[in-house]
Amino acid sequence: MIERVIRYNRVSSTQDKAKEFVEGRRSLAVTALTQDKGRGRQGRIWFSPKGGLYVSLLVYPEHRVTSIPLLASLSIIRALEEYGFSKLTIHWPNDVLLDNHKVCGVVCERYRDAVICGVGLNVNIGKFGPRLRKATSLTLETGKEYDIDRILEVFLRHFSGLYDELQLRGLKVKEVLNYISGLGEPVEVLTAQGVVRGTVSDIDDDWALLLRDESGIIKKFYYGDVRRLEW
Ligand code: BTN
Repeated sequence: MIERVIRYNRVSSTQDKAKEFVEGRRSLAVTALTQDKGRGRQGRIWFSPKGGLYVSLLVYPEHRVTSIPLLASLSIIRALEEYGFSKLTIHWPNDVLLDNHKVCGVVCERYRDAVICGVGLNVNIGKFGPRLRKATSLTLETGKEYDIDRILEVFLRHFSGLYDELQLRGLKVKEVLNYISGLGEPVEVLTAQGVVRGTVSDIDDDWALLLRDESGIIKKFYYGDVRRLEW
């Protein structure tokens, strides 16, 4: 379902580049070797030197829009499993952890009738600054260098398959539940309405996070930024 991959050497952010193609109403991927202003969630900067995979998927989902970040995280996991990685978990819904260190982040933005889903995967990055001490890369884990284009291809294959399944037949969240990290852990969810603290209770059948808040009430979140409090 991703019809084209558009490649750049250097951009400000692939998220913004993808917006330039929205009129075409075609699902596509925009990728770059580096980004000058790569951005993460909550206005954070995404460290984007050469050696990472930086891709934004421009898609026009008709159903389950809020599942797209989780779908991207799951597709990264499936791709990395093909490369023999294990100990992969999803920190709902936007981060993929490798042995409890962040290897990939996902940010999704609504733009007109499209969703732009940005994925940053730390591939051949040899070191991170002190502020990113919870980060890792594939190279740091194995000492090997990887072909980023090939990883992109594998990721897109998984994403396309899961996306079609989700849009056409519905996809059961049970498939991803195995990977969710932090059940029972204290977290806070940052939403447009404010911050809610609680513990992760479950992920339900609509792919939403169920959080038990401090007064024991279960609250449902389709989207939000989850911060683990014990890190
Ligand atoms: C996060 O963990 O906060 C999300 C990071 C998402 C980074 C990717 S890299 C490709 C795309 N372009 C951007 O500017 N951001 C996303």
